[in-house]
Amino acid sequence: MGGCFSKPKPVELKIEVVLPEKERGKEELSASGKGSPRAYQGNGTARHFHTEERLPAPHPYPGAQDCVEAAICHVKDLENGQMREVELGWGKVLLVKDNGEFHALGHKCPHYGAPLVKGVLSRGRVRCPWHGACFNIGTGDLEDFPGLDSLHKFQVKIEKEKVYVRASKQALQLQRRTKVMAKCISPSAGHSSSTNVLIVGAGAAGLVCAETLRQEGFSDRIVLCTLDRHLPYDRPKLSKSLDAQPEQLALRPKEFFRAYGIEVLTEAQVVTVDVRNKKVVFKDGFKLEYSKLLLAPGSSPKMLSCKGKEVENVFTIRTPEDANRVVRLARGRNAVVVGAGFLGMEVAAYLTEKAHSVSVVELEETPFRRFLGERVGRALMKMFENNRVKFYMQTEVSELRAQEGKLKEVVLKSSKVVRADVCVVGIGAVPATGFLRQSSINLDSRGFIPVNKMMQTNVPGVFAAGDAVTFPLAWRNNRKVNIPHWQMAHAQGRVAAQNMLAQEAEISTVPYLWTAMFGRSLRYAGPATCPGSQGKDPELACSRFGQARWGTRDRGQALGAGANLQFPRIPQGRT
Ligand SMILES: Cc1cc2nc3c(=O)[nH]c(=O)nc-3n(C[C@H](O)[C@H](O)[C@H](O)COP(=O)(O)OP(=O)(O)OC[C@H]3O[C@@H](n4cnc5c(N)ncnc54)[C@H](O)[C@@H]3O)c2cc1C
Ligand code: FES
Repeated sequence: MGGCFSKPKPVELKIEVVLPEKERGKEELSASGKGSPRAYQGNGTARHFHTEERLPAPHPYPGAQDCVEAAICHVKDLENGQMREVELGWGKVLLVKDNGEFHALGHKCPHYGAPLVKGVLSRGRVRCPWHGACFNIGTGDLEDFPGLDSLHKFQVKIEKEKVYVRASKQALQLQRRTKVMAKCISPSAGHSSSTNVLIVGAGAAGLVCAETLRQEGFSDRIVLCTLDRHLPYDRPKLSKSLDAQPEQLALRPKEFFRAYGIEVLTEAQVVTVDVRNKKVVFKDGFKLEYSKLLLAPGSSPKMLSCKGKEVENVFTIRTPEDANRVVRLARGRNAVVVGAGFLGMEVAAYLTEKAHSVSVVELEETPFRRFLGERVGRALMKMFENNRVKFYMQTEVSELRAQEGKLKEVVLKSSKVVRADVCVVGIGAVPATGFLRQSSINLDSRGFIPVNKMMQTNVPGVFAAGDAVTFPLAWRNNRKVNIPHWQMAHAQGRVAAQNMLAQEAEISTVPYLWTAMFGRSLRYAGPATCPGSQGKDPELACSRFGQARWGTRDRGQALGAGANLQFPRIPQGRT
């Protein structure tokens, strides 16, 4: 067995290989290895792209001078099921051996850049170690979320028991691949008061729906609308990196939307939906007709209803502006966070390095108790206390007191008075579905939009996805649940798009959530309720933070899948 991976030997670099014409022909296939992608018309029928409709995607082997080829190891250097990072001179590739076959892929997860070699290889997919995105090793395609882009797939050949990899230098440096997409060829784009697809909400679910439509070849008009003044951005970073500027949070640049003909209406609030005439009305009176509608409005944060609730410097965290203002106001002063859920605790952790004092007010006895159970909650609380966070538990805010209109004190029901210059409220959210009350789209008693596994509402042609829906979760005997996670919103947006194109897709992903506090990350896979809260005792396999695994047993079976929590230290600069 050679050790060419542990200590790289000088690689045999054969730079500037000219691809034979027939090989180039093969590479003209779509990234997924299929032939020319289909384009869907508004009526759902399929046709093939015209060459001029396709955007120039970076070619994996664009030209002889742009390629690098190297013999990187002996076929016996890797066992089946093993992955290794290999340097090709212009960047690394992830080499995978599976069922006796070698595959070479981008080595970094396009979501936040995790080293995929530390992930898990299983059933033809590699799962990212940080937030669980999943890539097909045969194509490099993203098959489970979070994230938007796929991996490059590089060519591998075996000659005389040696494994050769050939890759474009550009692809090695980029380490991400946007799938081939259709562009809009609708003559009405941008001008008419009707659209083929209207997506209310430009968050995770809305953006993935729009991108999936284009990836599947849909070339008619798509309009996304949002309350925000920004193009779609990375919302989970708001509470983990409060200083981040909108441009640092953008999920796609402006040019992306222009290139693929995805129109985004910013600061555009839909106030009514008329499903009979397939039309929505915006706050400014503008009316837009649609053929297919996706409702992905997410949720609205709950606010305090106590005395003084209108004083200045009390925030919920929904936009980059909210987050930026909180840090500005907290610097060297007193911050109070109301609610010890994920959002509140992330904000509290972030502010400890900026504020003079950070206090957390919570109704429960232990943070995260309902979600993670008593023992994990207590251990987390201790970590916060060690970082100077003061907790006021089993109480709530009775009054916000101001001086010259600005917050000065938070008065608690326990009659304690806490000094405060800025207050962040993280006490939960409600579905942002008020604008649907007069429509005939069903809402449940809590305001969620119930959908089936295909993300269809009760109205034909109207789909819904993301934080605003309840859907049947296979893991819970198809009980309708609401799972407000970033990854779930992506997955549901994709399924909705597939069903707009009559592909009969069903939602079948494992809910996945992560959080980051004090440079550590906590990852949770499984339904979003603590099994302990159902009378079962959550079990900490190892309580030493740095590597805690948590699970429950159900009827004598190990139910590790029910919940799995890990707490590794995360590298600097990542959230
Ligand atoms: C601060 C914060 C941190 C988070 N951190 C994490 C995390 O670490 N991990 C995790 O898994 N999840 C996290 N979440 C949850 C995650 O962000 C959501 O699950 C996800 O954003 C839901 O996606 P969505 O598309 O349903 O809604 P959103 O992303 O909330 O988008 C909703 C969109 O709808 C628009 N909209 C609403 N009403 C209207 C209307 N009437 N007209 C027009 N547009 C409208 C909004 O402007 C917005 O564009 C966090 C949430 C917040 C707020
Ligand atoms: S870095 Fe890979 S899923 Fe987030």
